[in-house]
Amino acid sequence: MRRGSIASLIGIGVVAGGIAAAAAVALPWLPTPASREAGRIDFVFWFVVAICILIFAVVVAALLYAVIHFRVRPDDDSDGPPVHGHTGLEITWTLIPTLLVTAIGIASAIVLARDDALGENVLRVDVTAQQFAWSFSYPGFKGLTSPTLRLPKDRSVLLRFTSKDVIHSFWVPEFSQKQDAVPGLHPTLHITPDRVGTFPVVCSELCGLGHAVMRSQAIVMPPPAFDRWVRAQTTATTPATTTTASAPATTTTPATTGNASASGSAVFKANGCGACHALAAAGSSATVGPDLDKLPQYARQAHRPLAAFVRRSIVAPDAYVQPHYSKGIMPHTFGKTLSKPQLDALVQYLVNSGKKG
Ligand code: CUA
Repeated sequence: MRRGSIASLIGIGVVAGGIAAAAAVALPWLPTPASREAGRIDFVFWFVVAICILIFAVVVAALLYAVIHFRVRPDDDSDGPPVHGHTGLEITWTLIPTLLVTAIGIASAIVLARDDALGENVLRVDVTAQQFAWSFSYPGFKGLTSPTLRLPKDRSVLLRFTSKDVIHSFWVPEFSQKQDAVPGLHPTLHITPDRVGTFPVVCSELCGLGHAVMRSQAIVMPPPAFDRWVRAQTTATTPATTTTASAPATTTTPATTGNASASGSAVFKANGCGACHALAAAGSSATVGPDLDKLPQYARQAHRPLAAFVRRSIVAPDAYVQPHYSKGIMPHTFGKTLSKPQLDALVQYLVNSGKKG
């Protein structure tokens, strides 16, 4: 091969590689990682991309060079030279891909092993998926359940998944990992958040009519702020008993209803009702399902007493569906998954909030 040919081959390769590299770097293909695991996964991704750019440059150079230099001339009807393979070339293009694929395999295996290795002082979070909401409970802090996933920065977190109905898939793009929540199984996922911020929790497995709205938030907080949040949540349920003791005469009735609506509000939160329904008392404004501040009006339309209407709408949601909403979107499982006291508290809570509004 002549000197000039090699120079033009290299020139084409450098230009093609440069264009591919610019497209890879300039466009925001991936979100900025928010966990150590995501950082390592990104490393593997870029390692593979670099190899791809290299191969792309070589292939484009060979292709364009051949198209330009070996194109058929006008009036040239002769056959090409009889070529019968090239052992050196065969060995080269078998050996190089073998080495590259092995390198990718080794890098991936190391990253997978390191991502799965739990750190010290692991925070365990039970993630429950159901049509169409997420809830997160913290077995280390008794009774603490949240509709959003709050995590302290730089601490090893082990998520354990439960599905109450069908297959869902937990995905926080900034954490780079996905895990299916499969009925009957309890898979786990290890995350070490390393960036403070609020990131979307997405369901990435088609799970029914409300799949697109099955979203929550992962909130990574500095450890002191996380501790304060845990303390605020775990003490919030206890004061009801202390206030009743300190002021018994006038507040007996309000204290008990206050207590009931407090735990009703906890049931509302824990079951992700606010992901679909607006309710001023719970600070939610979702519009997937009917507005729960209008329950008294709906009960009149359904010709039922308010409390009975609310209870039936939770247990058998398709018995009466508000016009312009569809059957089959509201989960049918609450009659089974809520205990009688939880259901009573939730009904009471919704009836009381509706009366205020
Ligand atoms: Cu749950 Cu899609």
